[in-house]
Amino acid sequence: MPAPLGREIAATGSMGICLGCHGFGDYRQVPIPADEPAAYAFAPDLLLAMEKLETNYFINYLRDPPYLQPGSRMPKLALNKQQLEELRELVLTVKEAIAAGQLQPVHNYYRMQKRTGEAAKP
Ligand code: HEC
Repeated sequence: MPAPLGREIAATGSMGICLGCHGFGDYRQVPIPADEPAAYAFAPDLLLAMEKLETNYFINYLRDPPYLQPGSRMPKLALNKQQLEELRELVLTVKEAIAAGQLQPVHNYYRMQKRTGEAAKP
């Protein structure tokens, strides 16, 4: 992560909300709770989301995730216009940094594993 981008993320107040659930490349890794190793990985790496999602879709998703993606596990956050605007700026900056080769999203294997025990029964 280039230092100026790290500073921009830190300065984007609404990203603080996101990072409670999401990782962002090597800027923030998602901690893995030892007692529930299979249930931690639902919120995807936001760097990958910013790389792959079209900017308007990304912002519209934030307005009401379960509306745009029924069954979404991300709650509606009631972000205001200003927060959505600063997140749009950040998405554009991140896309530019990826296009310029300054930022390299790392695609890890999905951390999915077969469920065992009660939860595995249909
Ligand atoms: C309470 C936890 C939580 C918070 C806070 C949160 N998210 Fe999420 N987010 C999730 C989860 C869980 C998913 C996966 C939804 C699913 O697939 O069911 C998700 C999915 C997403 C996706 C869709 C990714 C994809 O690949 O389709 C985007 C984009 C996203 N979040 C952006 C954000 C942003 C930006 C913020 C901060 C403004 C934020 N999220 C805050 C939990 C959260």
